[in-house]
Amino acid sequence: MVAAAAEAVAARIGSRQPRVAIVLGSGLGDVAEQIQSAVRVPYGEIPGFPQPGAPGHKGELVAGTLEGVGVLVQSGRFHLYEGHAPQVAALPVRVFARLGVRTLIVTNAAGGIRLTFRPPTLMLIADHINFMFRTPLVGAVLEGEERFPDMSEPYARELRAVARDVALRERIGLEEGVYAALLGPSFETPAEIRMLQRLGADAVGMSTVPEVIVARARGIRCLGFSSITNVAAGLSAATLSHEEVLAAGKQIAGQLATLIRGVLVKL
Ligand code: HPA
Repeated sequence: MVAAAAEAVAARIGSRQPRVAIVLGSGLGDVAEQIQSAVRVPYGEIPGFPQPGAPGHKGELVAGTLEGVGVLVQSGRFHLYEGHAPQVAALPVRVFARLGVRTLIVTNAAGGIRLTFRPPTLMLIADHINFMFRTPLVGAVLEGEERFPDMSEPYARELRAVARDVALRERIGLEEGVYAALLGPSFETPAEIRMLQRLGADAVGMSTVPEVIVARARGIRCLGFSSITNVAAGLSAATLSHEEVLAAGKQIAGQLATLIRGVLVKL
């Protein structure tokens, strides 16, 4: 399945060799509009890629250049809460690896648990906790992957340093924190948020971890940004909605694009 998908994408993108793949989260589509010499590959043309079901997610890969760097942007991700196996959520990353990508930039929308987070704001992901209790690595070991990949540096130290430099220069607020991934699709209860707080999480969401696990198993280095779109459940009087998440994501998507472009220049 991975080989067939990679061949289909390679045939469409031709000589646009991607070095960096960028996964866009809910409402964070700005970067996809800024790609130069863009070729768009709809998911319908890629074997094994379902249509994305979450509102705010398109269904295409966009290949081209950004700041002179060959990039492949995933616009529309597959969530476990849609009923997809973790292997489906991580299939695009396996395809990116086959196409020669060595750096993965992941973005997501997340609820803010750290009390100083004022949404909309951006968080640099320092580390994650897998509360999905599922992983794309179960089953036979795929070619190019290890049985027991090291996860001691899921988000590359040197890339995080670059991101902090860019944020400082561009005057974009960027605090670093731990992302907890839950299955969803219901938002968390206040008691669950208090639990996550005690266990060391700064933000909570429903994606990203399956992709990063496969990336590390393939030796791809990762950089992650959470767009903190709302205060997590019970930490304010507000109720949560996906519409609010998308609206807040839109407000911060421009800053996120600036950060990503700044990082690409320094790769
Ligand atoms: N919880 C889980 N996922 C999210 C949230 C949240 O509060 N906000 C955006 N994605």
